[in-house]
Amino acid sequence: MCGIIGYIGKKQAYPIIINGLKKLEYRGYDSYGICILNNDNVFLKKKVGRISNENGENLRDGNLGIGHSRWATTGGVCEKNAHPHEYNGFYVVHNGIVENYKELKEDLIKKGHKFNSDTDTEVIAHLISEEFKDNLEDAVRKALKKIIGSYGVAIVSPKDKDKIVIAKMSSPIIIGICKDGHIVASDPSAVIDFTKQIVTLDDGEIAVLKKDGYMILKEKKIEIIDWESDAVSKGEYEHFMLKEIMEEPNVIENATQGRLLEDNVKLGGLETSKERLEKTNKIYLVGCGTGYHAAKTGEYLMEEIAGIDAEAHMASEIRYRNVRLGPNYAAIFVSQSGETADNLACLKRMKEVGVLPLGVTNVIGSTQTRETEGGVYTRCGPEIAVASTKAFIGQLTVLTMISIFLGRQRNLSKERAKEIISELKELPRKGSLILDNHKQIQELAKKYSQFKNFWFIGRKFNYPIAMEGALKLKEISYVHAEGTPGGELKHGPLALIDENCPTIAICTKDSVYDKMISNIEEVKARNGKVIAIATEGDGKIKDIVDDVIYIPETLECLTPLLSTIPLHLFAYYFALSLNRDIDKPRNLAKSVTVE
Ligand code: AGP
Repeated sequence: MCGIIGYIGKKQAYPIIINGLKKLEYRGYDSYGICILNNDNVFLKKKVGRISNENGENLRDGNLGIGHSRWATTGGVCEKNAHPHEYNGFYVVHNGIVENYKELKEDLIKKGHKFNSDTDTEVIAHLISEEFKDNLEDAVRKALKKIIGSYGVAIVSPKDKDKIVIAKMSSPIIIGICKDGHIVASDPSAVIDFTKQIVTLDDGEIAVLKKDGYMILKEKKIEIIDWESDAVSKGEYEHFMLKEIMEEPNVIENATQGRLLEDNVKLGGLETSKERLEKTNKIYLVGCGTGYHAAKTGEYLMEEIAGIDAEAHMASEIRYRNVRLGPNYAAIFVSQSGETADNLACLKRMKEVGVLPLGVTNVIGSTQTRETEGGVYTRCGPEIAVASTKAFIGQLTVLTMISIFLGRQRNLSKERAKEIISELKELPRKGSLILDNHKQIQELAKKYSQFKNFWFIGRKFNYPIAMEGALKLKEISYVHAEGTPGGELKHGPLALIDENCPTIAICTKDSVYDKMISNIEEVKARNGKVIAIATEGDGKIKDIVDDVIYIPETLECLTPLLSTIPLHLFAYYFALSLNRDIDKPRNLAKSVTVE
């Protein structure tokens, strides 16, 4: 941890900076340094040892300067490694770590740059010099885009005088607002003697401090609403939920449009995180409700397709757990609204410990999209019904593509990637075939509408889908439903099975088909009725269960994108038969923005 400080104003900078460094000494005291600009003249002093040896006498006239107290991270304790670091007239003080400094330094040396220190920080001065044309903050912005890591930086230069440019990513930085100038510092202790008014920079913000004021620059991307106004009307549908289920095949189409290459995917929102994702050891997937079910499916997808360690968690749980996290982990927050309070609280906590925060989000410009460092939009258009349906399909589609992206950074072969991608292109058509069968599903919902309890079972990729089907049913019909892995039935749930408790079994032709057939037979042996979601052409299952809803065959890892659709429809028609308030079920809200 280091301390940075800077001053620009009407007063002499030197004593203010020395005073501030003494207050910041607790942050690091291996060495210290100070740089004062006075027109084109620069005074630079760097010393090993403690700032407390300085008596604060003004050694140098000038109203603009920066200072630093160092706790050595990269590069030993010596004068050349003390900050400020300079290159070509650009002076930098930095608190944080440039994780990719070695690669950057190699590239710069190839371009002829000479380095004076062993530190990571010095590359920042070189990068700024490379980018500088005539505007310091512009050069800083471009230079920092190349940095992977954390920073609280302050930069000055006689090449663009009368300003201090500061920037923040993960390391704290504040601006002290004084009546005769401005102080930038790592924390308020360095400004308290001059002001109690401070402004705190957020991650990704750059600020320019001048004698008469400051300006905070935050790159605001222009984002385009990717849906038409009729998207927020029911059209010819009785409920938004039915309309949104009927859009599910189209959602797969929209989510993949322009993102599928021959043997990889193109996800612009992950570009800036590419290098970090290459080094990521483990992916946490975090969500609530349906978002969690998508996250759980994502866990299986990432293990299977990307060959990376993955763990899905409910935000409301993991945010309170003592999970060992750090910069080698990434967290993908899965949320339709991008406003779910538990997700955002968890996101904040994970960012604080250096986890790479990414989002799979539907609502453009939502808080989650602003707080994450990248991500992928699901492009579903507005989802109005409280019960999330098409957004779930969009989340699964995007998580499948992210798995391909991560896999191709690792050991996923071109052939396997091609196979998944070409099948993904078939799913909108295959999903539409399921919707064409909605009458059968409506009849089944009616047939079972007198039951008050349901079990949903599935295995592997379809275990989260069993949970999703149960959530959909219970949240709009108010009947009890639970989703559980098929293998768990005999560990307890089977005690509930009888002629009054039907089971919906997702039993598609895949690696766990035979196991699911055994689970179905366990239920039948206790007089439980079974509705199977099965693969077209599976004649055997028809003779074992009470009712079958067939879905087209697809790759095992893509089954959730199809097996979900009949469950969403079943829940809708079941609630319709009970005359429920389907789009606005009791006790619930579309976006849970409170904890
Ligand atoms: C799902 O049908 C529910 N409405 C609810 O579980 C929802 O998925 C959850 O509140 C998360 O919302 P989000 O996707 O907007 O974060």
